[in-house]
Amino acid sequence: MQLFAKKIIRGGFVVADNEELLADIYISGERISHILPADTEIPTDFSDAEVLDATGLVVLPGGVDAHTHFDLDIGIARSSDDFFTGTVAAACGGTTTIIDHMAFGNKGTLPSKQLATYHELAKDKAVIDYSFHGVVQNASAEVLSDLENLKKEGITSIKGYMTYDYRLTEEDLTILLRKTKELGMIFCVHAENHLTLTQLREQFIKEGKTSPIYHPKSRPSTCEADAVKCVCDIAKQVGDAPLYIVHLSSARGTFELKKALAAGQKNLMGETCPQYLFLDDSLYEKEDALKYVMSPPLRTPDDSSFLWEALKKHEIETIGTDHCSFFYSEKQKLSCGDFTKSPNGAPGVESRMMLLFTEAQNGSISLRQAVNWCSTNPAKIFGLYPKKGTIKEGSDADIVLFDPSKHTNLQKEMLHENCDYTPYENIPLKGIPVLTLSRGEIVSKDGTSLAQKGRGKFLKRAEYSASKHV
Ligand code: URP
Ligand code: ZN
Repeated sequence: MQLFAKKIIRGGFVVADNEELLADIYISGERISHILPADTEIPTDFSDAEVLDATGLVVLPGGVDAHTHFDLDIGIARSSDDFFTGTVAAACGGTTTIIDHMAFGNKGTLPSKQLATYHELAKDKAVIDYSFHGVVQNASAEVLSDLENLKKEGITSIKGYMTYDYRLTEEDLTILLRKTKELGMIFCVHAENHLTLTQLREQFIKEGKTSPIYHPKSRPSTCEADAVKCVCDIAKQVGDAPLYIVHLSSARGTFELKKALAAGQKNLMGETCPQYLFLDDSLYEKEDALKYVMSPPLRTPDDSSFLWEALKKHEIETIGTDHCSFFYSEKQKLSCGDFTKSPNGAPGVESRMMLLFTEAQNGSISLRQAVNWCSTNPAKIFGLYPKKGTIKEGSDADIVLFDPSKHTNLQKEMLHENCDYTPYENIPLKGIPVLTLSRGEIVSKDGTSLAQKGRGKFLKRAEYSASKHV
């Protein structure tokens, strides 16, 4: 228990979703009580407050990462960050809310059964606030009726996959999008064309082409584009059902989203991830290429440029991480160098905010854009705003302080992720988080976690509202 119920973050450069100012932030308990111009005389009711000197620091809303996979059971392995190590890493990197994508569970597992399992995985472990996206294996009557239970539990988004064992057919997608629209939920989709990628993978296996360089070749960007087009068309037919396309990786895939938006389709949202913005497919030529076996795979530098442009034009609205960590040593052991046998995924929950902060310091984006993509937009889209994702009176005091004078190269040793590598090794950083608050409590300071295990709270989310989002 920390001593001070009242805190003042004094004299920092505050960047919120739609303003930037030198200000003092007054925190009472878990919430922001008010914001005053910097160095205003402290009101008497705050005379006993703890003062956190933010001079020279940049003060941002805590990050909202709407795409993590903690403790993910994929059958051959379990992702290495659970809800304790994953949320500690998130907090140390300046993220104060996560929305986790659940595993499928056994065949036939209903979404609400999976929700109960995930409550058990997260409670007593998470150090920051969290929610889950539901997951569906099919569009049976039982699943559709179960979505109503999910909604009552405050889960207002579900995810379906167009590849993997429990992929959805076009008919399933139509039925599910109709139902989620009716319930005020958002349908999140992993869009990759299963048929093409399966055929390519099987052909490569037959030809003995199983080194990691064949991973991206087996999942070309046309796979993403075909699936994005297909699911956007279905959402359109269902009357612009709310649709959120996760982890867009390619120019081709994003172009399909762009076309649908340009044709006037509403309630259509896209996400990309740092790996598709900061890394590229030349990494598959390296000896440690297995580290980058993730789906979708890394693409070309031209794809990354296209994604940045789409973010700037509001065609893609969020940056989540798809954090799904497996030790490199485990990937090596399980795959023996064969990409088809390697667990897919990579860590990133702790690096996201630092990478985006640095991009802003470099001048190619603004800090406000970074805040919108990493905090405000995901909070709005997924029914958490203005409790989360902003610095406003009445909002939760979820805040991160960055020191722009701390320049260093990103290294695995700095991070708290339970993994033996970071894909972002040696990327130069122009600023790191020095203090993170979650609901008014300091949860990390100078790269050390101070959070009590299990302090994070489950967040019931509001239903999707087009008027509230961006
Ligand atoms: O490779 C990845 N991204 N693994 C996580 C599961 C998924 O496909 O999103
Ligand atoms: Zn994912």
